[in-house]
Amino acid sequence: MPDFNPNVLRIRESPTRKIDSIKERLVKEGKDIILLSAGQPGFPPPRELRERLAKELIEDDTMRLYGYTPTSGLAELRELIANDIKELGGPSLTPDQILVTAGGQAAMFSVLSSILKPGDKVIHFDPTYFGYQPLIEYLGGKVLWIPTDSEYQPNIEKLKEALEREKIKAIILVTPDNPTGRIIDEKHAKALADLAIDHDLWLIVDEAYKTLIFEGEHYWLYKYAPENVIAIDVFSKDPGIPGWRLGFVYSKEELIRRAKLVLQEIVYCPPSIAQHFVIIYLKDRKLKELTRRRLLEELRVRRNKTIESIERYLPEAKVVKPRGGMFSFVDLESYLKKLRMDSEEFSKLLLEKKYVASVPGSYFGPTQKYTVRLSFAAESPERIEEGIRRIRELIDELQSRTPSS
Ligand SMILES: Cc1ncc(COP(=O)(O)O)c(C=O)c1O
Repeated sequence: MPDFNPNVLRIRESPTRKIDSIKERLVKEGKDIILLSAGQPGFPPPRELRERLAKELIEDDTMRLYGYTPTSGLAELRELIANDIKELGGPSLTPDQILVTAGGQAAMFSVLSSILKPGDKVIHFDPTYFGYQPLIEYLGGKVLWIPTDSEYQPNIEKLKEALEREKIKAIILVTPDNPTGRIIDEKHAKALADLAIDHDLWLIVDEAYKTLIFEGEHYWLYKYAPENVIAIDVFSKDPGIPGWRLGFVYSKEELIRRAKLVLQEIVYCPPSIAQHFVIIYLKDRKLKELTRRRLLEELRVRRNKTIESIERYLPEAKVVKPRGGMFSFVDLESYLKKLRMDSEEFSKLLLEKKYVASVPGSYFGPTQKYTVRLSFAAESPERIEEGIRRIRELIDELQSRTPSS
C-alpha cells in the first residue's frame, strides 16, 4: 500500500468522540445515558431567534443565504463581532482584525498552521483543553507542559524557568478554562502578557467561554499585548450552535491575513447560514442580552447542583468551584487509589455500567491521572445529581469487590 503522511498517523480519535462511540452503542441498546461529557448546551437557542432565521429562509428568494461568503466572513458579521467585544469591555478592533471561521476547530488549525514550523515548542498549562495538542503535533510541533497552582492559575515561576531554558514559539491559555472553569486573574494575565512580549512569542488566548462567567471578570489579554495575542472564540457555546460550525479569530491584521489564506484552502468560507443566524443574534441587543442571561443563569443553577452533589455524594473528592464555563474538574484520587484504578478506566466503567458519560482527566494533562471532567451544560439539575449519585454507587460497588491490601 502507498504510505501516509507520518503526521496524520499521529492523529487519534478525540476523547469526546471515543466516548460518543460507546455512548451511541449503548443508546442503540436502549440505554438512557446521562451526559456529563458534552460541552454544549442541552437546549437550543431561543425560539425568537430561530423564528427570525426561519422567516428569512422562507421569504428570501435570493442566493443571499446560500452563496459563498468572503473567506474572512461577512463584513456585517465582523463589524458586529468587533462591536460586541467592545461592549463586553474588550479591545477596539477593526473588522480586518477578525477572521470568521468554520468553528473553533478551524480557527485553531488556521492559527497554528500560520505560526508553527516543525520542531516548534508550544506551552500548555496542565490541565487544559485537549483540542490543541493533536494539531500542534500534526504540524510537527511539540507541547511542553507547565504546572498550575491550587486554583489552576498558571505557575509563572515554572513558566519563566522554561522560557529561560528553551526557545518557545507560543503559549496557549484557555480562559475561562475547559476543563477547570478557572478564570485567569489580573496578576497572572499581566504576567503572561509581559512574558510574551519579553520573549517575543505568540500568546494564543482561547476565549470560547468568555460570556459564561458566574463570578469574577474576564481579562482581555489582547489589551496587554496586542502584538503577541491571537484570540480564538466560538459560537458553539454562546449562542449554542456547535453543529453549525462558527467561530472567529482576532489578532493583528498581518496574522489574520495569513490565517485567512489557510482557511481559504480548508473550507473556502465559513458556513453562510450560521453567519446569518449570528448576525440576527448580535444585531438585536435585547435578544442577545436575554439569551446570554438565560444561558448563564441556567448554567449557574446546574453548576451549583454539580458542586452540591459532589459535596453530598463524593465528600472525599476535591473540586475547585468553577467560576465560568461548562465544566467541573473533579479529583477522585482518594477513591480511585483505593480501587487501584485511574480515571480512564473508571470513566469507561461509569459509562458501561452506570450509563453516565464523563471525560477522564488524563486527556487534559500529564498529571491528571485521577481526575474526571463533568459537564453541567447538557443535562437538567436532577439528572446531574443522579449522575453524580451513580458515580458514588459505582465506587461503592467496586470497593466492595476490591480486596484490601
Ligand atoms: C476551549 C475550547 N476551545 C475551542 C473549542 C472548539 O470549538 P468548536 O466546537 O467550535 O470547534 C472548544 C470546544 O469544546 C473548547 O472547549
